[in-house]
Amino acid sequence: MEKSLRFYMLALILLFCGTGCFNGEPLSLPSGEKNAVGMIRTSRKGLAPVYAPLAEQIVSDFDLSEKDGIGIDLGSGPGTLIIELCKRTQMHWINADINPNFFPNFYRQAEENDAGHQVSAIFADAHSLPFRDNYADIIVSRGSYHFWEDRVLAFSEIYRVLKPGAVAYIGRGFSRDLPVETAKKIRAQQGKKMKYNVDEKANELSNIMSKLGIKDYRIDRPKPPGSENVNYGIWIEFHKP
Ligand SMILES: C[S@@+](CC[C@H](N)C(=O)[O-])C[C@H]1O[C@@H](n2cnc3c(N)ncnc32)[C@H](O)[C@@H]1O
Repeated sequence: MEKSLRFYMLALILLFCGTGCFNGEPLSLPSGEKNAVGMIRTSRKGLAPVYAPLAEQIVSDFDLSEKDGIGIDLGSGPGTLIIELCKRTQMHWINADINPNFFPNFYRQAEENDAGHQVSAIFADAHSLPFRDNYADIIVSRGSYHFWEDRVLAFSEIYRVLKPGAVAYIGRGFSRDLPVETAKKIRAQQGKKMKYNVDEKANELSNIMSKLGIKDYRIDRPKPPGSENVNYGIWIEFHKP
């Protein structure tokens, strides 16, 4: 075999096998890593406009701008909501997620946004939260609860971890101030996979509250003017007395 041809073949073998990369992308990733890479990408592209208005709404609805204390974002993944919450509060925010592959990128993003001192990350399964009773001043979660297998158990864990007087805001979708055109565009990009019956989901959440004996709750279905045919998602706010 000609010397130069041998050189090219060796270079190709090294490229595919030695580095394990193709076009800068790993050739095969464990599923946790793959999910993290995919969700980080989505949070930076299609979903990017969602987080700032949601953080704005949470801070205003729950009066967080002057508050100290601990906030948990359960299933925060890339942690983009936390970064936006850090910009608007002095609180310490914890990214509690079952997939720790998100954490290095999350810490990097926090540092880049001057919020490194305001965040932590912990491996956490919603069904058995690694926090003591009465720990958090607020627990939020976006786009995660529908992955939890035993939602009654997971919501009971959230309730256990809330401080007396604290609030949880858990759900999926968008905040009420997300512009309708933006919401439409995101839903169009998501296609069928994000189609669900909001009435059914509202019933499910109410049933969970009644099973847990939680009386102080509100189902939130954002419907800004002009959003009649756009699914803004479903949220539940509940308080621990
Ligand atoms: C669709 S992503 C949403 C991420 C983020 N909240 C957002 O809105 O950008 C769902 C997240 O829920 C996490 N998750 C799924 N099941 C979980 C569980 N049992 N406990 C904690 N986190 C979970 C996933 O690892 C993932 O980060």
